[in-house]
Amino acid sequence: MPALVLIGAQWGDEGKGKATDQLGGRVDYVVKFNGGNNAGHTVVIGGETYALHLLPSGILSPGCTPVIANGVVIDLGVLFTEIDGLEARGIDTSKLVVSANAHVIPSYNQVLDKVTERFLGSRRIGTTGRGIGPTYADKMNRVGVRVQDLFDEKILRAKVEGALELKAQVLLKVYNRKAPAVDAVVEELLSYVDRLRPMVADTGLLLANALDEGRTVLLEGGQATLLDVDHGTYPFVTSSNATSGGACTGSGIPPNRIDKVIAVVKAYTTRVGEGPFPTELLDESGEKLRADGGEYGTTTGRPRRCGWYDAVIARYATRVNGVTDFVLTKLDVLTGWEQIPVCVAYEVDGVRYDEMPMTQTAFHHATPVYEYFDGWTEDITTARTFEDLPKNAQLYIRALEEMSGAPFSSVGVGPDREQTLELRPLL
Ligand code: GDP
Ligand code: IMO
Ligand code: MG
Repeated sequence: MPALVLIGAQWGDEGKGKATDQLGGRVDYVVKFNGGNNAGHTVVIGGETYALHLLPSGILSPGCTPVIANGVVIDLGVLFTEIDGLEARGIDTSKLVVSANAHVIPSYNQVLDKVTERFLGSRRIGTTGRGIGPTYADKMNRVGVRVQDLFDEKILRAKVEGALELKAQVLLKVYNRKAPAVDAVVEELLSYVDRLRPMVADTGLLLANALDEGRTVLLEGGQATLLDVDHGTYPFVTSSNATSGGACTGSGIPPNRIDKVIAVVKAYTTRVGEGPFPTELLDESGEKLRADGGEYGTTTGRPRRCGWYDAVIARYATRVNGVTDFVLTKLDVLTGWEQIPVCVAYEVDGVRYDEMPMTQTAFHHATPVYEYFDGWTEDITTARTFEDLPKNAQLYIRALEEMSGAPFSSVGVGPDREQTLELRPLL
């Protein structure tokens, strides 16, 4: 039985939550392997809307075990608020398992995230301000606090003291902010221990055993390919590996156990925060896409930047992730356009690029080369098979599929679980 990876192909918010939820009923484990509560996944089930940040979207599928794996950074306050919110709505969260090796986000890293962004001014990244970057930096600097550290107060105190020694100086001398006291940080973290302890496990071992027993494991990525710290539009990225490789390091499942890599891709493109975006529309077309697609961040409420589908990016996602299947989302949002442009290549200083340019400078200067497709006006939100779609919508899908380098297995025509056309079985 397989391990499947599901990741975003663009700059996030492709509809990964809905896609995971769709598979949730058919898999035994859904594993979040990277990121933290910078993610925002909206899942609509029978008219009920759920917004998830830290919990894997599989939590909404009864029978499925949700896992927060070692690659995730956890804000414990957010974890329990989210659990309580779901429980209050009748969702059973008792199966949740949390890795002993996952890092926690101490409050000082949230402060640092925010003051650093302010300090950067025009060079800011536009982060979600959740302390994600500083916490991954601590992990790499080997001064992070892990879930298991909370089980030994002496060790926890030593780690917090160690981390704060330098940070307190930076906060005070660079940002004119008083750092929180070691005691206060330790106390806050310890206040979660009793609730956390029963959820904590060696998730790498748990998942290896599950695969040996023939269970199906879905590894759900937060963020997306172009926000990946290695393969994205650095420095305008998040601080984790959101590509399929990150699924292995972030969960302890080795590459040779992965059977499928599913990439979720929107029928157009959006981006939140700063950084280059070749097909961005700064005119009323962009405003129309934002309004029709409801393109406002699930996490921060920020308006998302909008633009046309970029096939160069989709091909890049196929290459970097080893995509075996694409899930195309939000096709319904494109209803009503006379013509739909699709970026098939870039032009940089008069030179055509069919692949992502090697340098960030070139990508910043890339202008899209568009091909134009005829639109459709019929409402497609009730379509349930490919044949239900207007001819031009079918042609648009097939054209994107050909340009993007892997088969399109499903198409979304609305936010609800039911509003999906399955072109080939994903599982
Ligand atoms: P994620 O971060 O990748 O999980 O995506 P988000 O949840 O942040 O953003 C995707 C938004 O699009 C959510 O509000 C979804 O409910 C919605 N959505 C997902 N698929 C479709 C679709 O096919 N059509 C429409 N209209 N909305 C969709
Ligand atoms: P989901 O999982 C869209 C963006 C932020 C910012 C950059 C770095 O819902 O697709 P961070 O707080 O991670 O240090 O911010 O990454 N970003 C996202 N954009 N969707 C997300 O998650 C994002 N998570 C982070 O806007 O530009
Ligand atoms: Mg999102």
